[in-house]
Amino acid sequence: SNIVAFEDIASTNTEAKRLAAQGSPDGTIVVAESQNTGKGRLDRSFFCPKGGIWFSVILKPDFLPQEAPKCTLMAAVAIAEAMEKVGLRAGIKWPNDILYQGRKLVGILTEMSAEIDRINYVVIGMGINAIIDPKIFPEDIKDKAGSMSMFLGDFDRVAFFQEVLRRLEVHYLDVRRRGFAGVLDSWRRLSITLGEQINVLGINETFAGEAVDIDEDGALLVKPEGSEEIRKVYAGDVS
Ligand code: BTN
Repeated sequence: SNIVAFEDIASTNTEAKRLAAQGSPDGTIVVAESQNTGKGRLDRSFFCPKGGIWFSVILKPDFLPQEAPKCTLMAAVAIAEAMEKVGLRAGIKWPNDILYQGRKLVGILTEMSAEIDRINYVVIGMGINAIIDPKIFPEDIKDKAGSMSMFLGDFDRVAFFQEVLRRLEVHYLDVRRRGFAGVLDSWRRLSITLGEQINVLGINETFAGEAVDIDEDGALLVKPEGSEEIRKVYAGDVS
């Protein structure tokens, strides 16, 4: 398929959105050795030095717009599975961070363009801290961020990236053929959020409870403390 590679770029997501709007096909990949203006969720910036794996995938699925968040779960599953294969048993923290020993190794930023009843395109941006010396992490993330090489030492970054792309393709084909059930099952297996006591930091409110499951839309099902009534959390963060 189409792969577009850059030495350094502002943001592969921005470039992928431009290409998608210009007609680049489903499955196009934009990858860069480094990003000078990497974008994180919630308008944050993301640290993207050389040695990481910074890339975006353009998808043009015929899903409904409200199904797009599930593409993010699919990406998290593909990366966590590829990590498992190189011996790193990392876990997915809802909705889509990948952590190992409490350190964040991966962030995912999904953006889309849609009409009310159809998706024009989805761009899934994935940032993997692959081979990065933790000494260069900026002060504000150095206690929370990690890299794969912190735990694995040096490893074959290109072979790992290829495995991520293979897992993504397998899951994407499966999702289009049979729906999201398979991805959701894999997500449940790899999740470190389910079964835990968590704090939900929602858009308008914060509450504590137990993360009991994820539903078919990718929403987290939480049983608030002292209540039997399950609440669905569609967006926000958990800690
Ligand atoms: C987050 O955890 O806040 C999401 C981080 C997403 C980073 C990736 S790196 C490739 C792609 N291009 C960007 O500018 N951001 C995403």
